[in-house]
Amino acid sequence: MAEPHGSTASGQGAPAGAGTGGGTATASALLEVQGLTTSYGPVRALDGVSLRAEAGRITAVLGANGAGKTTLLRTISGLVRPTSGQVLLDGQDITRAPVEAMVHKGMAHVPEGRGVIAELTVDENLRVGSLFRGKVGREEFDRVYDLFPRIAERRENPAHTLSGGERQMLVIGRALLARPRVLLLDEPSLGLAPRIVAQIFGLVRQLVDSENLSVLLVEQNARSALSVADTGVVLNLGRVVVTDDARTLAADEDLRHAYLGF
Ligand SMILES: Nc1ncnc2c1ncn2[C@@H]1O[C@H](COP(=O)(O)OP(=O)(O)OP(=O)(O)O)[C@@H](O)[C@H]1O
Ligand SMILES: [Mg+2]
Repeated sequence: MAEPHGSTASGQGAPAGAGTGGGTATASALLEVQGLTTSYGPVRALDGVSLRAEAGRITAVLGANGAGKTTLLRTISGLVRPTSGQVLLDGQDITRAPVEAMVHKGMAHVPEGRGVIAELTVDENLRVGSLFRGKVGREEFDRVYDLFPRIAERRENPAHTLSGGERQMLVIGRALLARPRVLLLDEPSLGLAPRIVAQIFGLVRQLVDSENLSVLLVEQNARSALSVADTGVVLNLGRVVVTDDARTLAADEDLRHAYLGF
């Protein structure tokens, strides 16, 4: 395992201007989850999960059905409340902040299922994503359209006429209009052809690199996710099995067979 694509992995290569000015060598992660435990009645879906997600990085969260991936994202974004543990954004405890406050602080969640308002056009769906922000400049919509030209071509079409891949681009675009610093993506590849998955993951990578965004990418499709991610976190039955550099995880045959299904 040499180094197929340079220094995208953790370590150095912080983008110029990323410094916050002062002092500490070990910068805290943009998003930090500490000992998160979430239960649905008697079912403990998350059991003491800790992870860090850095700006300018894709952190893949992998695991089989029922591992707790969706629960992790829903707990981070405040849709369900943990019984213990903390979620820190920029070092600030947001664990029990109202969902709107989390959105304002820069958290955007794209849930599984690609929910759009079917009767509204692509453009109207995007505008819905920006509603709570007050006035959003045309250039911000154009930025989303530049990133996803397939969506731009279909901006006047009702959302129900989009393909699965286009719909996924639309929901990601809609989330971007909230100007997030952390983007939570739940199974964006589900049911899409490999070529479309590669295209969407490539666009996410481009976005992360150009905007210094932090993406938490939840996937059952571990092979594809690890090919684009910097770091991987493997969940099993609500617990973290291992956290490591994405390439190291992808090269670990025993781990792949035991938990990642490839
Ligand atoms: N609303 C709920 N009420 C009760 N139990 C739930 C609820 N949502 C999830 N669970 C349970 O919590 C556990 C974790 O589910 P979760 O949806 O987080 O897993 P997942 O890793 O996202 O799975 P998948 O890959 O199938 O999407 C499972 O045992 C599931 O049955
Ligand atoms: Mg899920």
